[in-house]
Amino acid sequence: MKKKILFVCLGNICRSPAAQAIMQKYVDDAGLQNNFYIDSAGLYAGHAGELPDPRMRQHARRRGYQLLHHSRPVNTSDFNEFDLIVAMDDSNFHGLRRLAPTIEDQNKIIRMIDYVKGYPQYHSVPDPYYEGAEGFEIVLDLLEDGCRNLLDSLISQQTESN
Ligand code: 4NP
Repeated sequence: MKKKILFVCLGNICRSPAAQAIMQKYVDDAGLQNNFYIDSAGLYAGHAGELPDPRMRQHARRRGYQLLHHSRPVNTSDFNEFDLIVAMDDSNFHGLRRLAPTIEDQNKIIRMIDYVKGYPQYHSVPDPYYEGAEGFEIVLDLLEDGCRNLLDSLISQQTESN
């Protein structure tokens, strides 16, 4: 059965669609498309239906990621659908915990930053929306580091349970 992972930020137009594309590329590169299903969503529905922010699309494209997801709000049914829900910052983490229908669902929520190893000065994946180019670059740096480690950790878990 596929492990289903949902990345969540506020608007679902910057951080989480970037995380989705990065993780999908790592999954594809590892030939693990049959083992993982990756999606993203936002806690704020104001950008629903939109493609990612043009600034994020441009910065991501330079690193080889095409961001084609359309923003959608996170829904309580996502807690049934997904095995793992990955929050970009503390506000997302607490917002998701408030939405989670059960304690078991709350336990599916993790923080992206807990998988980032190379940037100890960061305690969240910061919202780049009101930042300049540097803000988008650091988000991509953090997400590449965190997605790599998260995928490695999930692959080890799958190997152990087989
Ligand atoms: P994201 O960035 O949560 O990484 O998608 C934001 C996008 C939009 C807004 C805030 C953050 N906004 O306030 O519209």
